[in-house]
Amino acid sequence: TRIDKGGYKHFMAKEIAEQPGVINTVLQNYLSDTGEITLPGDGIDFSDVDRITMVACGTAYLACFTAKYWFEQIARLPVEVDVASEFRYREPPIPAKTLAVFVSQSGETADTLAALRYCDGKADMIASVVNVPESSIARESDLALSIHAGVEVGVASTKAFTCQLTVLFLLVLKAARDRGKLTDADLEKHIADLRTLPGIINTALAQSGKMQATAQKLSHASDVLFLGRGQMYPLAHEGALKLKEISYIHAEAYASGELKHGPIALVDESVPVIVMAPRDALFDKTVSNMQEVMARKGKVILISDAQGIAEASDGVWSSIEMPSVAEALTPILYALPAQLLAYHTAVAKGTDVDQPRNLAKSVTVE
Ligand code: G6P
Repeated sequence: TRIDKGGYKHFMAKEIAEQPGVINTVLQNYLSDTGEITLPGDGIDFSDVDRITMVACGTAYLACFTAKYWFEQIARLPVEVDVASEFRYREPPIPAKTLAVFVSQSGETADTLAALRYCDGKADMIASVVNVPESSIARESDLALSIHAGVEVGVASTKAFTCQLTVLFLLVLKAARDRGKLTDADLEKHIADLRTLPGIINTALAQSGKMQATAQKLSHASDVLFLGRGQMYPLAHEGALKLKEISYIHAEAYASGELKHGPIALVDESVPVIVMAPRDALFDKTVSNMQEVMARKGKVILISDAQGIAEASDGVWSSIEMPSVAEALTPILYALPAQLLAYHTAVAKGTDVDQPRNLAKSVTVE
């Protein structure tokens, strides 16, 4: 099938806009009408799992990193995450009752495939989360979970990331259920929240114009910091990765609490600092880090919800308002501003959004 831009200026813009639809497809494929989580084949019985090892590259790695927070907090399962190129040569011991999970849009990334082969015969079970069901990674797994994102053309992954997160979140709920960590009522609440997500993402997409204005200012920067705490920490990494990939602006992500252990030395009036902080349990902690930045004249871009912005946007350079969403689902929603800020900044700079220099969509060589 020929894929076109469907009226959008870039594939990336089209793929960002497709997210409500493809997330809905994920929910249709993994949830029954009665709200049961249905995995293909024999699924996974998490009551036999003591730990999870998650391995991937690039944005897929950041989906794993995000899922670590969910698996640990919601399912109380310890998770190790690593980039495939490190994992494969470190040759880590794989204890009994380990589930190994490999996440890959293409299903062909050489390092991820090598890491999977390393786990073959060592892990109790190998599962993969892939966009291409016929891919090598899918074929060599005991269980392949499809993300149903459709063809993704833009080199910078967008809809594949949020679909990976949605599939992984469903897997976390399944794990929490199997391990007796989630009541019927809590499961139902999570499922109901998930079903509102496509609509909420549509609302976030409507903020694109506001993000365009902020991106215009960002396009003059040469260094940008992204800060986040808790589940927003992996998202800060995703924001920095997207920005450097397509706008070529140097961007780094830091855990808010690590700011004072190094990067604060970089902060002055020339450095935009993007703070991803929904009004969650850790909000006040992140805001106090944000104030340390402002005290050193750093230009803060606060991404939060209406309540967070009302409470903390005094003195910020710019703020971006996200709709409210259930706390557990904030990583999926906050992928949107990470993508849109990078997209609009790249457009403002005139770089090649869909085919950034030196990067490939699928890296099948080491
Ligand atoms: C490349 C792409 C990234 C992608 C990564 C992993 O670097 O540019 O967008 O996240 O590979 O690819 P995979 O197909 O394994 O998800």
